[in-house]
Amino acid sequence: MGAKKGRGLYLYGLDNSKAIEIVIVLGIETSCDETGVALYHRERGLLAHRLFSQVEMHAQYGGVVPELASRDHVEKLLPLIREVLEDAKLSLAQIDAVAYTAGPGLIGALLVGACTGAALAFALDKPAVPVHHLVGHLLSPMLANPELKAPFLTLLVSGGHTMLIDASALDQFEIIGDTLDDAAGEAFDKTAKVLGLAYPGGAKLAALATSGKPLPRPFPRPMVDRPGLDFSFSGLKTFALNTFQQSDQSDQARADIARAFEEAVVDTLRIKVERALAQTGRRTLVIAGGVGANQRLRERIGELAKKTGIHVYFPPLEFCTDNGAMIALAGALQFDSGRGDIGWQIEVRPRWSLEESNLRGSAA
Ligand code: KG4
Ligand code: ZN
Repeated sequence: MGAKKGRGLYLYGLDNSKAIEIVIVLGIETSCDETGVALYHRERGLLAHRLFSQVEMHAQYGGVVPELASRDHVEKLLPLIREVLEDAKLSLAQIDAVAYTAGPGLIGALLVGACTGAALAFALDKPAVPVHHLVGHLLSPMLANPELKAPFLTLLVSGGHTMLIDASALDQFEIIGDTLDDAAGEAFDKTAKVLGLAYPGGAKLAALATSGKPLPRPFPRPMVDRPGLDFSFSGLKTFALNTFQQSDQSDQARADIARAFEEAVVDTLRIKVERALAQTGRRTLVIAGGVGANQRLRERIGELAKKTGIHVYFPPLEFCTDNGAMIALAGALQFDSGRGDIGWQIEVRPRWSLEESNLRGSAA
């Protein structure tokens, strides 16, 4: 799409040696159904953040409707930017760079953030930084724990991903385990739907599980009986559906199934994390993504940390799910990594592998 390195609009490439000092970064997240905006200060940390969730709008359709998501981002983004500036008592001119999610995600939704971010940066004559959404999730614990240092192992569990990632540096990621079918969050949401809970039902299923009693036959732990670090959750979801259909479908039965399902997912994640720690020898673990908000997962991983003596970082609950703060932080760190195209060209990547982000910092 836009101008490439060495031509026209490319002014801020690290290789053209224009000296710029980046202190305050505006972060914009619009990859799916949350409009997130934040201001991040390199020394002082998070200055302000705002989030508008479209969850209620999409709930009536049972999932995210991409066209509605894009339109809503258009409506919400500029007001949210105004609000974070007011919250932080800053003017637009005080922003040093604009970071936005360039992928992966819904193309229309991504374009809203990318066009707004790049246009703002262009108008301010400041750099625009395209950020990989998953890098934002991976680094989100640093919002509360800036001391986090690589190397570390990450369990990334969101609505779209279930991955074990070995981070040898803050910008070098290797996927060592992935899901073969449904992501953990997706399985939570689909099972929640079976149990009559509104989309996205992950957190609601977890709440229902607290009143559940153990079932005589526990749910299976998929793929733990064979070597490797990959996951598969779609069978577990079907197991939950069958168990529900064979039950009396009472409130207690729903709660019992929620509990058994949650236990099985969390236990499977814990087993694979333990295996990945042994395989990599890492002593630091990061849990990131929406399912990272799950209390039972936090407890089980906490127990594992105690047992093995590793250090575990969870993002603050509000930064587990999509948000602008993690994008602002990842954008700021992208400058430190000393690589990547940083300019005003607008190009989003709905599909963008995490490992490709090792090679270049931008979507270009
Ligand atoms: O990271 P995220 O906001 O979106 C993606 O980038 O995918 O994660 C959303 C996912 C949803 O599937 C949601 O149901 C799940 O995280 N989730 C939870 C909990 N809170 C959010 N799943 C289980 N327990 C929770 N407490
Ligand atoms: Zn996400």
